[in-house]
Amino acid sequence: MKNHVWRPLYLVLGFIALFLVIRHFLVPKDFGVHGKNFTYGFHRAGNIQEWQAVPIKYHGRESCNECHPENVAANASSKHAPIQCENCHGPAMNHPDSPEKLPIDTSRELCLRCHGALSTPGSQRSRIKGIAPDSHNPGTPCTDCHNPHKPDLEGIR
Ligand code: HEC
Ligand code: HEC
Ligand code: HEC
Ligand code: HEC
Repeated sequence: MKNHVWRPLYLVLGFIALFLVIRHFLVPKDFGVHGKNFTYGFHRAGNIQEWQAVPIKYHGRESCNECHPENVAANASSKHAPIQCENCHGPAMNHPDSPEKLPIDTSRELCLRCHGALSTPGSQRSRIKGIAPDSHNPGTPCTDCHNPHKPDLEGIR
């Protein structure tokens, strides 16, 4: 065969060899060494331990009932029932040991995350009742008038 065929062929073979060498050094030793499962072995065995070591942060509403039954009852019987306590109060896995208290955020921003009116109809989020923050009682905390645990419009404070 002629040179103009061999030369590009060598080049391609060279790149393949280079790729295999680089791959040998970059791919971690425990990649794909644990048999075939639903992931086709396409992950590091050590990654499983790494994820198991990630501490759990959230405890769920049921765990609050023991010590804050009134808040849980109010929340469960309200339009805010789908919202977890920890959505507003932050992660509580080891509360009340650490932290002893959970933060209470009475800023308008907390509520506007979900209640700031959207101009794009149709999304799941835009089905939540929205208010225009600039004209709906600006400057006053939402919780002066609305009970965050039971925000029924009949029960406005
Ligand atoms: C074993 C009992 C216990 C459990 C379970 C518990 N808490 Fe508490 N919580 C406390 C105690 C005790 C305090 C401190 C009360 C105080 O100083 O007024 C507290 C304080 C709080 C505060 C601050 C109250 C304030 O007036 O500053 C919030 C908010 C709170 N807890 C939310 C929660 C949520 C949400 C859960 C569930 C994820 C939960 N707690 C689970 C016992 C508990
Ligand atoms: C939509 C946000 C939101 C959710 C969801 C929520 N809270 Fe609260 N929580 C607040 C705000 C805001 C305050 C402060 C209320 C105030 O100042 O009037 C508060 C106050 C509290 C307090 C201290 C005052 C009190 O009422 O005793 C406790 C305890 C508490 N929440 C527990 C809970 C628990 C338990 C849940 C779940 C069942 C929960 N919260 C769900 C926003 C929320
Ligand atoms: C994580 C999202 C979320 C947050 C944060 C949140 N809400 Fe809501 N809120 C909802 C959903 C979902 C509903 C039920 C659907 C609806 O009525 O729009 C609702 C309903 C309401 C309603 C209407 C109740 C009725 O009877 O129609 C009021 C008022 C309200 N929330 C006030 C507040 C206030 C005040 C805060 C802040 C303390 C707050 N919300 C924080 C999601 C949220
Ligand atoms: C001064 C009292 C007051 C304050 C502060 C206030 N609201 Fe209201 N809100 C009301 C009253 C009264 C209504 C019922 C009449 C109406 O729709 O205006 C209402 C209605 C609502 C509704 C239902 C709207 C609908 O379409 O039916 C939502 C959601 C709401 N408020 C959220 C909020 C949020 C979020 C904040 C803080 C950013 C807030 N409100 C601050 C008094 C207040």
